[in-house]
Amino acid sequence: MSNLIKIDEENRRFKLDSGDTSYLIMVNDQDMLYHAYFGRKLPDGDYSYLIDTPPHSSIEAIDDRNGFWISDNAMRLEYPVFGRADKKETALEIKFPDGSNVITLAYKSYKVHEGTVGIKGLPAAYANEKSEAETLELVVADDSVSIEVHLFYTVWRDLSVICRHAEIVNNGKNSVVLKRALSAVLDLPERDYIMTTNCGAWASERRIERHELFSGVQGLYSKRGNSSHIHNPFVVLQRKTADENQGDVYGAVLAYSGSYEMLADVDAYGMTRLTMGINHDCFEWVLEAGETFATPEANLVFSHNGLNGMSQEFHKLYRDHMCRGKYKNERRPVLLNTWEGCYFNFNEDTIVNIAKSAADLGIELLVVDDGWFGHRNGDNSSLGDWYPNEEKLPSGVKGLAEKVHAEGLKFGIWFEPEMISRESDLYRAHPEWTLCAKGRPISQGRNQYLLDMSRKDVQDYLYDCIAKTINDGVDYIKWDYNRNFAEVGSQLLPPEKQGEVSHRFILGLYSLLERLNKDFPDVLFESCSGGGGRFDAGMLYYMPQTWASDDTDAIKRLEIQYGTSIVYPLSCMSAHISVCPNHQTGRTVSYKTRQDVAYTGSFGFELDPTKMSEEERNLSKATIQEYISYGDMFVNGTYYRIANPKDDGYAAWMFLSTDESEARVTYATIDHSIEGPVPRLRIPGLLPEATYVDEERGRTYTGAYLMYAGILADIPGDRGTVVYKLKRK
Ligand code: GLA
Repeated sequence: MSNLIKIDEENRRFKLDSGDTSYLIMVNDQDMLYHAYFGRKLPDGDYSYLIDTPPHSSIEAIDDRNGFWISDNAMRLEYPVFGRADKKETALEIKFPDGSNVITLAYKSYKVHEGTVGIKGLPAAYANEKSEAETLELVVADDSVSIEVHLFYTVWRDLSVICRHAEIVNNGKNSVVLKRALSAVLDLPERDYIMTTNCGAWASERRIERHELFSGVQGLYSKRGNSSHIHNPFVVLQRKTADENQGDVYGAVLAYSGSYEMLADVDAYGMTRLTMGINHDCFEWVLEAGETFATPEANLVFSHNGLNGMSQEFHKLYRDHMCRGKYKNERRPVLLNTWEGCYFNFNEDTIVNIAKSAADLGIELLVVDDGWFGHRNGDNSSLGDWYPNEEKLPSGVKGLAEKVHAEGLKFGIWFEPEMISRESDLYRAHPEWTLCAKGRPISQGRNQYLLDMSRKDVQDYLYDCIAKTINDGVDYIKWDYNRNFAEVGSQLLPPEKQGEVSHRFILGLYSLLERLNKDFPDVLFESCSGGGGRFDAGMLYYMPQTWASDDTDAIKRLEIQYGTSIVYPLSCMSAHISVCPNHQTGRTVSYKTRQDVAYTGSFGFELDPTKMSEEERNLSKATIQEYISYGDMFVNGTYYRIANPKDDGYAAWMFLSTDESEARVTYATIDHSIEGPVPRLRIPGLLPEATYVDEERGRTYTGAYLMYAGILADIPGDRGTVVYKLKRK
């Protein structure tokens, strides 16, 4: 008998208890899967009364099966379909051989699986031990068209998260066309929510926006082929009275790296339908007889402890159950990336000198960024020619890796595998490998085309290039992706399957990454996309960290990192100290502020250390040692946002160690003025009765004082940041 999933077979009811939440599903008289509840945990009991349909007009009340009229338009459904009376956003649309799109899904059966079930070819949260999770599989079907849909719900013992995906099976004799196959729908009975979304661009990713829900459709999407700089695939709905530390909050994330949609459809009855999945404008899938199509996974969180409570559930889910490999709970090596230090302008001697200088500072990993391969001296050639540029690196990657290793550093290198430069040996040899519609114009982005990642021969070519380079002594790979989709097509697929290319591209990418992960478990992979243009949960399954943004200005990073922390664990977010004036904004910020802001993520440097002053070298040595000493707290500790840099005019955040005995609070001014309001920092997450010592300031507080009365922020000596280190006595 399962503990987390409670089934009333006779009444066809399913109660899913996940962490502090309950999720209730019932089969109604029309055999439809009715969504009864998702929210704070409920005791077991009779919840049949939760099948409620608000009054509806007779025009919509058109289904009089079983003798009474009911409208699926006014019902809360688990997986609503297109083609019947439900005219809101739906999850599934199928075109049948007779040209119709009518489908009715009726409940058939259920199954409970221990642990998680995974999704073939796609990222999915996994249980480390089977006892951590249970998965409910519900089967609904339309026998008249031989379609079955399997809905999966993973429920967690210790996480307030539901992970959902759908599998659509064609049991018929003919192929059908999936026009839309979303991952999940959440039908909430009210509309009284603030919707938190995000908006961004290159060098300013994940800026948080909030608005009250309004009638009609609103939300986020990408049609760019990647999850994108513009809108990251997460949506939050919070009660108007909720804040960072209290109140009801729903969070939804799509664990997918391609074009997606996440929409809220608020109807005339005051209900909110949240839909999420692959963007249906960029999708069409020919489902052959006997085949199954699996959707990406959607991760749903409910928290009654405000936004911090929701974020902490996502952080645990992604850190402990999405990231894989030996680094997932480990402090990552302190890294130096050469991009802002050298750009394309380096050779073996430059790198070896940087390695010596970096080793002296205590840096642990040296990464050679763009420009080491083919004839690459700028961004206009050689993508695809993944062999060393002999003029720059006369002893190749192997020789350079040996020299860097000899300095006691790990060695990393940059790739942009999914791309092809028009000016490259690869393009001359294989123009047909380019993603395009044959014979039509192809747009260039950053002087490059995309490869057709749906092709196995392309995946194999890239595997061989990357594997060979790794075998030359590479410990880390920065996997970049610097342009969006424009014209999408594959020269291998027949005309009727061209609508599959966008999704097949992502499947091809995932398959290549899976193979590399499996064969090179010791290599640390970091994802990047013109900074943070593909910072998503799907990528974290293959690469446990992502470069958050090409903007390395510490002040600009406050808002970017705040927005990233809404969903993603800080250990997955790379943050580096760069030089001043900053290359993106021209701003000068103190070393201490740059350090304190970069500590918030997987920490490193983005500069040429041979050009640092003696003073900065000494500061850096101390900084690296301090970061290492905080290793576990920064990776596995609990992260709290205290202030929102956009609304509050300053930033503040905190890490709490895993045993909760130590807290590190950082306060950052944005527009420092000598006179003006000084914030009072109320420190969340402490024990009210406990005593905390701030040794640096010689102060002792009780937790209650820190939490409820707070402390008046110190004026930062560097007009930047102040850090409070609190230890529980
Ligand atoms: C992208 C990345 C940068 C750098 C350059 C190299 O913009 O985000 O960090 O790697 O490409 O071309």
